[in-house]
Amino acid sequence: MKKLLILLSLASICNLVSAADEPSPAALAGSNGCLICHNANQKLVGPAFKAIAEKYQGQADIQQKLVAKVKNGGAGAWGKIPMPAHPESTDENLNKIVAWILKGSPTN
Ligand code: HEC
Repeated sequence: MKKLLILLSLASICNLVSAADEPSPAALAGSNGCLICHNANQKLVGPAFKAIAEKYQGQADIQQKLVAKVKNGGAGAWGKIPMPAHPESTDENLNKIVAWILKGSPTN
């Protein structure tokens, strides 16, 4: 019983550590190249992340649509400048980044 408790607490410590090691969505946006063209508050080449959150607020199936759009690239929603495809970004990372954008890209 004691051994089991020790194992359980070790497992939860490991969980804590790996959660703390996970990069934040903001860091993922940087490492996936999004911040070359996007900024939270200002339009750069692409629209401001906060403008994207406002535009799609309350739209139920938007998360999947935006993940697909970032993955495959495209134009027309904001103007004629296209966003390039991001085939090298994993769905997991894109899901985290897009969920963060839709939440208003909080800094913490
Ligand atoms: C080379 C510049 C560039 C890079 C890099 C880039 N974007 Fe974009 N992004 C754009 C442009 C331009 C648009 C506007 C496209 C349009 O008008 O449909 C856009 C639009 C978007 C939209 C809104 C799409 C829509 O249909 O409304 C999201 C969400 C988005 N980008 C997320 C990302 C994420 C996440 C990354 C990183 C993985 C990223 N972008 C990287 C240029 C870029």
